Amino acid sequence: MRILGIESSCDETAAAVVRDGRDILSSVVASQVDVHRKYGGVVPELASREHLRQIVPVVREALEQAGVSVRELDAIAVTHGPGLVGSLLVGITYGKALALSAGKPLVPVNHLEGHVHAVLLEAHHAGREPEFPAVCLIVSGGHTLLYEVSAMALEAGNGAQPAWKFSYRRLGGTRDDAAGEAYDKVGKLLALGYPGGPVMDALAAYGNPAAVRFTPPVTKGNALDFSFSGIKTAVLRHVRAHPEWQEEIVRREQALARGERSAEQLRPLCSPATLDLIASFQQSVVNDLVHRALAGAEACGAKAILVSGGVAANSQLRKTFEGAARGGCPVFFPSRALSTDNAAMIAAAAYSHFLAGVRAGTELDAEASLPLA
Ligand code: KG4
Ligand code: ZN
Repeated sequence: MRILGIESSCDETAAAVVRDGRDILSSVVASQVDVHRKYGGVVPELASREHLRQIVPVVREALEQAGVSVRELDAIAVTHGPGLVGSLLVGITYGKALALSAGKPLVPVNHLEGHVHAVLLEAHHAGREPEFPAVCLIVSGGHTLLYEVSAMALEAGNGAQPAWKFSYRRLGGTRDDAAGEAYDKVGKLLALGYPGGPVMDALAAYGNPAAVRFTPPVTKGNALDFSFSGIKTAVLRHVRAHPEWQEEIVRREQALARGERSAEQLRPLCSPATLDLIASFQQSVVNDLVHRALAGAEACGAKAILVSGGVAANSQLRKTFEGAARGGCPVFFPSRALSTDNAAMIAAAAYSHFLAGVRAGTELDAEASLPLA
């Protein structure tokens, strides 16, 4: 069974063809990062416009790379939330039109469920499948969420690969900023470019993570909730307390304006104190994410921890989770390509829904805050 996935919930226009919910035949992603960089964050109007420009060529390329025509598809899957409404509508409208004109079923997919499936896709490729129940930590620029994931075997019939029926229980989520958003805001504050995460991850290796102490956030009422606005404000206070840093911040801004954005280019423009601050920020965010995910895993007797979303690419997050996993629960990460937004995860998540007969009609609409349940 071949499903075409379409994803346009934020700032990546993506399409992919996945066979039987597990074999990626193609995965094409057009990133808009260059469009949004100068604003230091995603500008919704510009994102919709870019999706409109990219959707047709991206879908065409995904079909071509997979060597599949629209006629040969079994279904078309599209993200209908959560995300930016104007962005979601581009993928939804295109998916609807394609499904209607080709007479194919349309399967609606929750973007967050896609992130869970990004990990499962990778685990399958590595020949190492997680056991359930699992907890899944979704950490990106838009989300920081912790779910319990349960799975029940589902018969595919017609000789197709068996699938799982998944169910989700929300254990916690951020009360303010997402973890990636905190990276991006601190990156902007320190003139480290956009997005801040990858560069700060690389620069953190050169600083002392114990140099600056940040108070771990307390989330009263639910210890599995997250909060990152406090640390962002603490970094801001720290920078204000050091007016002598303005000079190096201006030097980095000038370098960024010249297009010098890599960690190698920015490192010589960072004082040891700045590198210490970056390392301390990262240590604090990573420890907080790992600590709450482990607490969630323990609370629900999880047999695996799945970590997904753009921040899952963070080297220290991976190292810390892998260290913690040696004593207990195995941890699963997607590859770099599958950790950020993509459509292979959408087509993979659609598979069990498709088998269960879930279909969307022409009334399918974008849902900015669609919950995963
Ligand atoms: O999943 P994603 O591509 O987009 C959404 O936000 O949905 O995630 C992008 C986010 C950005 O905030 C970026 O700074 C962060 O992921 N990120 C990282 C790393 N790579 C990307 N954060 C920390 N360390 C990284 N290596
Ligand atoms: Zn995402």
